[in-house]
Amino acid sequence: MGKKNIIITGGAGFIGSHVVRRFVKNHPDLHIINVDALTYAGNLENLKDVEQANNYEFLRIDITDKAAIESLFSSRTIHGVIHLAAESHVDRSITNPIDFVMTNVVGTVVLLNAYKAYGDTENGRFYHVSTDEVYGTLGEDGKFTEETPYDPNSPYSASKASSDHFVRAYHETYKLPVVISNCSNNYGSHQFPEKLIPLMIHNITHNKPLPVYGKGENVRDWLWVEDHARAIETIYFEGRNGETYNIGGNNEWKNIDLVHKLCEIMDRKLDRNAGDSAKLITYVTDRKGHDFRYAIDASKLENELKWSPSVAFDQGFEKTIDWYLENTEWLERVTSGAYSDYYEAMYTSR
Ligand code: NAD
Ligand code: TYD
Repeated sequence: MGKKNIIITGGAGFIGSHVVRRFVKNHPDLHIINVDALTYAGNLENLKDVEQANNYEFLRIDITDKAAIESLFSSRTIHGVIHLAAESHVDRSITNPIDFVMTNVVGTVVLLNAYKAYGDTENGRFYHVSTDEVYGTLGEDGKFTEETPYDPNSPYSASKASSDHFVRAYHETYKLPVVISNCSNNYGSHQFPEKLIPLMIHNITHNKPLPVYGKGENVRDWLWVEDHARAIETIYFEGRNGETYNIGGNNEWKNIDLVHKLCEIMDRKLDRNAGDSAKLITYVTDRKGHDFRYAIDASKLENELKWSPSVAFDQGFEKTIDWYLENTEWLERVTSGAYSDYYEAMYTSR
């Protein structure tokens, strides 16, 4: 018998590339098909070290392209799907919600239909990778559990909540074997510099202002991307069908404290005087509908599947910063061209 085909969507993006790499390396018995449209956020450079592997294949397909997705699923037996392809940036969702509905909602339903019609629904599974942002916002206390009611506030989180609901509905209605995880903010290598940490690293290296939204008091829980990829691997193989698992780092930071920590490390690494990078901090108009705080209770995953974060934040953060400093060409390439239009529209006169 040949290898089992597993589709990973969004495998050229930030988290997807870590998941693809992990599956290709750890599971030579599986054939990994990376389905990605290569939007601005997708980059095959992220996968250089696996592109020659004989259990890996890349297909450039937009998941909203029903005919192309059906043709893929009907041409060979697809054992499982790990679905990460998405429009993922909250600020973009505020200016252009329709793209988020198309990819995150319609694209997910196109994949569900194709898997239902042609996939190995007896033995395989459809795994939807989602976000803690579907739960809305927390005050100073408390954490999101799997029982927290959905209460999305941004067009991004509304689209992810909607796709989570479709995945659940396909389980209830058609008995599709599905699993969902909702994870907190990830940090690590290969993240597109529209997100907080790589954007700030890029700006510090270029001596550009560091745009902190509002008062910088919003809180995020940061998880090392490799720990997320390992959680996805664990849940894919060992999670229970129809279940949701929360994934988090137990690592809450106020944005301004995180930016200060980054500035201190950058001063040291760039041989600048202490305090130089922090002088670039600029408070800018807050994001519309900015969720105050996210925090995850991951005890279900920890107790049931024995997963826990493996990397202490100090260590993971240094490694992350080192990666961007060692890969300035990557950072320069992804910030050339359309990135400057985006940056101008989002930040100039903010
Ligand atoms: P990303 O923006 O870095 O990558 C998204 C990938 O999806 C890109 O490779 C892009 O080309 C691809 N894509 C976009 N639209 C597509 C389409 N229509 N068809 C096919 N491919 C398409 O995103 P990320 O940060 O790696 O997030 C991956 C997933 O994890 C998303 O579903 C996101 O909601 C979820 N998530 C992200 C975080 C985070 O901190 N980044 C946290 C929790 C959950
Ligand atoms: P981001 O990385 O966009 O992730 P998310 O919105 O999904 O949590 O932002 C993380 C936090 O940093 C969020 O509270 C918004 C804030 N932020 C800034 O203050 N300035 C920025 O330039 C960016 C991109 C984000």
